Amino acid sequence: MVRDLRHHDVEPAPLPGGGRPAAPVTVTRMRGRHLDGVLAIERKVYPRPWSPSLLRSELRQRGTRRYLVALDGRLPGRRRVVGYAGLLVQVGEAHVTTVAVHPAEHRRKIASRLLVRLLSQAIAMAADSATLEVRTTNPGAVRLYERFGFVSAGVRPGYYAETGEDALVMWAHGLLGEDFAARLAGVEAELDLPGGSSGAADLAVPWVRGRVGLGGSSVEDEE
Ligand SMILES: CC(C)(COP(=O)(O)OP(=O)(O)OC[C@H]1O[C@@H](n2cnc3c(N)ncnc32)[C@H](O)[C@@H]1OP(=O)(O)O)[C@@H](O)C(=O)NCCC(=O)NCCS
Repeated sequence: MVRDLRHHDVEPAPLPGGGRPAAPVTVTRMRGRHLDGVLAIERKVYPRPWSPSLLRSELRQRGTRRYLVALDGRLPGRRRVVGYAGLLVQVGEAHVTTVAVHPAEHRRKIASRLLVRLLSQAIAMAADSATLEVRTTNPGAVRLYERFGFVSAGVRPGYYAETGEDALVMWAHGLLGEDFAARLAGVEAELDLPGGSSGAADLAVPWVRGRVGLGGSSVEDEE
């Protein structure tokens, strides 16, 4: 497995107010050649990472799945994966299956950029509702989803068997309506603002390795 993440040795300087500049990334469809980069992030941010075969199987189901990657725009010749997100659409309902960003690039609007594109694709597939599960121990991710109009609909106790954590089940409704279009446009209009602009302090999840806060870098050495 290639784990070539050397570009993260160069950290973006924190902004004077303590925020992080938005990342210059390109969002595109996930393809087989991105899987090494995706899996390297997967292993850093999830206690039970998806396997290569599971991801490949998701990519094969083109009728109902959409998977996107964010590629580092600073190194056009090398185009490394810095984030990814996926979606399953069935009978008018979208299910966000995954969203993850390399820890060295958190709070740079990469997940927001991916979700704007992903939810636009859900709308293009005629989904009027979207749902997802998120760990109750992950308030930063909950904030992210709330910005897209997701609201909590309940808790599934012990949903994450590997850690025993509970899942918050969140839903966004009316994706095909004008209000949701306006919300998506509002998030899109803020994609170039620095991280921290929502006013939320940076929050860490214990098992995410190499967490970077708004104040600057605390990246561990890459393996
Ligand atoms: C959750 C995650 C995907 C967010 O990615 P990101 O690119 O850092 O998110 P963004 O920069 O687009 O954040 C947008 C907004 O969401 C909220 N937010 C995101 N991460 C946050 C955090 N760690 N603490 C507090 N608020 C956070 C903020 O309101 C932020 O806006 P701001 O930075 O202008 O204040 C990323 O932390 C990650 O990969 N975590 C590990 C995997 C994971 O938990 N995935 C979600 C599974 S459900």
